[in-house]
Amino acid sequence: MPHSGIPVSAVTNQKVLDFIHEYQKILEPDNIYIVDGTEEEDLYMKDILVKSGTFTKLNEAKRPNSYIARSDPADVARSEASTFICTTNPEDAGPTNNWKSPADMRKVLDPVLHGAMKGRTMFVIAFSMGPLGSPIGRLGVQLTDSAYVVVNSRIMTIMGKKVLDELNHGKDFVRCIHTVAHPLKPGEKDIPWPCNIPNRFITHFPETKTIISTGSGYGGNALLGKKCMALRISSWLAREEGDAMAEHMLIMKLTSPEGKSYYIAAAFPSACGKTNLAMLRPTLPGWKVECVGDDIAWLKIGPDGDLRAINPESGFFGVAPGTSDDTNYYAMRSMDKNSIYTNVAYTEDGDVWWEGLTKEPPAGKITTWRGATWSKDSGVPKPDLAHPNSRFTCPSSQCPILDKAYYDPKGVPISAIVFGGRRETRTPLVFQALSWEHGVMIGSGVASEVTAAAEGVRGQLRFDPFAMLPFCGYNMGDYWQHWLDIGKKVNPAHLPKVFHVNWFRRGPQREFLWPGFGENSRVLKWIVERVEGTAGAAETPIGYVPAPGALDVSGLTISESVLTDLTTVDAKSYLDEVAAVREYHSKFGSHLPPVVKEQLDALESRLKVA
Ligand code: GTP
Ligand code: MN
Ligand code: MN
Repeated sequence: MPHSGIPVSAVTNQKVLDFIHEYQKILEPDNIYIVDGTEEEDLYMKDILVKSGTFTKLNEAKRPNSYIARSDPADVARSEASTFICTTNPEDAGPTNNWKSPADMRKVLDPVLHGAMKGRTMFVIAFSMGPLGSPIGRLGVQLTDSAYVVVNSRIMTIMGKKVLDELNHGKDFVRCIHTVAHPLKPGEKDIPWPCNIPNRFITHFPETKTIISTGSGYGGNALLGKKCMALRISSWLAREEGDAMAEHMLIMKLTSPEGKSYYIAAAFPSACGKTNLAMLRPTLPGWKVECVGDDIAWLKIGPDGDLRAINPESGFFGVAPGTSDDTNYYAMRSMDKNSIYTNVAYTEDGDVWWEGLTKEPPAGKITTWRGATWSKDSGVPKPDLAHPNSRFTCPSSQCPILDKAYYDPKGVPISAIVFGGRRETRTPLVFQALSWEHGVMIGSGVASEVTAAAEGVRGQLRFDPFAMLPFCGYNMGDYWQHWLDIGKKVNPAHLPKVFHVNWFRRGPQREFLWPGFGENSRVLKWIVERVEGTAGAAETPIGYVPAPGALDVSGLTISESVLTDLTTVDAKSYLDEVAAVREYHSKFGSHLPPVVKEQLDALESRLKVA
């Protein structure tokens, strides 16, 4: 069932044609294939991937239309050291990004790009991030020599003919160039996961809305619609437009027993539980959560002056280990079929497994993510069966609690913005900012503690402002200023309230003090009651915390003293926090917004008199 895609003659947008031809000359592919996005094409691509050894089809009875891929063991994660923001002026990239001038970066890239697709097909993917026709969405065109990227893009974006039709109406697009940089000589046999680690570069040219990624086939480096376009390039574009934002945030809808609904957006650094919170199963009776997105939110000021958000992605690309029916039931149901698994373990009965899926790995022969075999009765100690960063790719439409507004091009109105990090000490379970400006300062100080397991000094803070450290496509100080500017532009009646949460406080035995997961619905309830102005709060120097009795702990076994611990602010300890944040802020020099500094000064003064 060979499939031929869309003929080049069907592309009438001259800019798209010029783009294809420009890179055809440089990359020298054997063929060009413009994807149409149909199911037949998808099956054809998967067939190619099975034949080349990239994919193994999973047991159809257990997991219909699903596949497992094993990457090169060196190509398993986003590669921040090889990620660059290429602007004319280094200050535009700022102190938190690797910078090279566009000309110097091209000098590095040109030899890699030259003839990089020899012996391969160049796939052309026209894609939309966000519903077609959304005032908040954006279009892109990705060139790639990876069929793995094509099938993943069909899940993660809207792609194919209908997007090309939009482009043919003259719409502008982000230029995305991706190659595994592993050309084939005539007659040379391909390998299951071609890549080129010494020539791995993930480069962004925001001034020309261009992304060039070479040498890697891994999701975050190769699916350019995701972190590269939806965060790095779009954060730049959003500021340029003045009324938009591109954030590393989940979006959820929370409905109270009385039937009142609220939309909440939350930014936590990677591996801090966005996908969990986005699909939470509330333990509080009568409360309901629906999911809009689990990783990225695009926001824009709407016609009513409210802040509207869409999830620009069409699928979930989530971390597999730790995901189970107990920890994330709806994520599990979202990937029951039509899914792609990368670097998880393969079981004897043709299914997948990863650490945390079940208590024990199943009996029988297991193929590890590295391709070795292992079994429980082999007597060999258990290796990592799945890679710690192994991922599932599955369509959002399969999420049983997907909010129908997910499809709404107008986006959903956000009432609360929540920040969070992994904090073993000091940071309370939840607190509310005193104002938007105070909230921006809190976002600028989002951090996780270095734990004993990680390198570095225990208790030291690793900052990840707004959970955007690896993803902000411009100067982080200017980004904070943009947040302050947005706060002035949104209708004050609709300005979201800002919160900070911490599910990760630990006790003397390093046990978690808060049960987390579904029990976080109690914190969400307090948050929306604060939005309504009904929940009790105590003012502390760092913001409002739940007043005694204001957090609904009915039916929960938790001691009074732990609860007090979780909601009390230790002013002395927070002065150390202020000092660490101040030192961190100093690296932004003149790009640190004065308002952020004033907010930190004010916090310090409040702590000193407390
Ligand atoms: P990216 O997709 O990489 O951006 O990260 P993410 O924010 O979606 O993180 P993810 O959901 O993959 O993080 C999962 C980790 O957070 C797992 O180790 C979970 O056990 C842990 N986690 C999530 N929610 C909670 C919670 O309420 N309490 C505790 N203790 N751990 C949690
Ligand atoms: Mn996630
Ligand atoms: Mn993420």
